[in-house]
Amino acid sequence: MIIARNVSKEFNGIKAVNNISFEVKEGQTLVFLGTSGCGKTTTLKILNRLIEPSDGEITINGKNILSLQPEILRRSIGYVSQNNGLFPHYTVAENIAIVPNLLKWDKVRTSERSNILLDQLKLPVTEYANKYPDELSGGQKQRVALARALVSDPPVLLMDEPFGALDPITRANVRKEFLELPELKSKTIVLVTHDVQEAFELGDQICLMDKGIIVQTGSPEELIFKPINEFTRNFFSHQRLQLELGALKFSSIWESLTDASSSSKPSLNSNQSLWEGMEMLSEKNEETLVVRNSEDNSYKEVSIQTIQSVYLENKRNR
Ligand SMILES: Nc1ncnc2c1ncn2[C@@H]1O[C@H](COP(=O)(O)OP(=O)(O)OP(=O)(O)O)[C@@H](O)[C@H]1O
Ligand SMILES: [Mg+2]
Repeated sequence: MIIARNVSKEFNGIKAVNNISFEVKEGQTLVFLGTSGCGKTTTLKILNRLIEPSDGEITINGKNILSLQPEILRRSIGYVSQNNGLFPHYTVAENIAIVPNLLKWDKVRTSERSNILLDQLKLPVTEYANKYPDELSGGQKQRVALARALVSDPPVLLMDEPFGALDPITRANVRKEFLELPELKSKTIVLVTHDVQEAFELGDQICLMDKGIIVQTGSPEELIFKPINEFTRNFFSHQRLQLELGALKFSSIWESLTDASSSSKPSLNSNQSLWEGMEMLSEKNEETLVVRNSEDNSYKEVSIQTIQSVYLENKRNR
């Protein structure tokens, strides 16, 4: 879907992005992760030509993006900028209608589509459509920015620190809702964050960046269990246990679990992580919980002891 080859961007002779290459498959989420100033926003903006690359080639669906007019290119790419970018003097409804107006949609079509999105994003139309950005909380502003990016149903979505302005608790909750949004399931997403936990929860693939280069690209599991150098290893060291448990899904250790006959206990799905299992055990104050395999509808039983022993066993075998 998106292929970038040897892309660089120089500002005043300094390479903010230095010869990077990456791919995003259709329907997948690629996360750019790294500390401030490493080139994440620059990379994202090159993809919709808010910044022109100094070097390299990018294709989206086989088309070289430099051969398209930027305005045409941007119609197929939703963009949520780093500070949400809402127009303060436009209402929520007017902010969302910007792209439909450019596309000359009629009013009914625009409001029907906006209403569906506001509803999905838990912003009731009657309450929020006529509010101004200043009257919204940080999380609500983010949702409006997301609705605006999604309104014309673009196949590609670029998001720059979409949850950056939120406190850690709201952030975790908004992220969960985000993962469940039906509207996003089929999108190809490139997301920028400096939050390791966020990258691991949202990314199918993660590009870990440092000083304009991509140090390592891989799945969360690959980055945490197979760091290629000290930089990657150190980047994750302070949250290692949580990230390792988060990167291990019940499906990948299915055979090591005990069969369960009943599904009466609080249950998780086999594509959830050992970390989520630990959280659920402690939240519900249960000795065990039941995990359901979505493929064959079988059930397994899990306790804290099982999670510990399976985790240690897995670590030994790597
Ligand atoms: N328009 C510009 N002119 C000159 N230098 C720039 C410009 N935009 C970005 N830079 C520089 O390029 C580097 C990368 O910036 P970028 O915004 O891509 O970083 P980032 O990884 O998104 O950082 P943050 O996490 O703080 O948002 C920085 O050193 C920045 O100062
Ligand atoms: Mg940035």
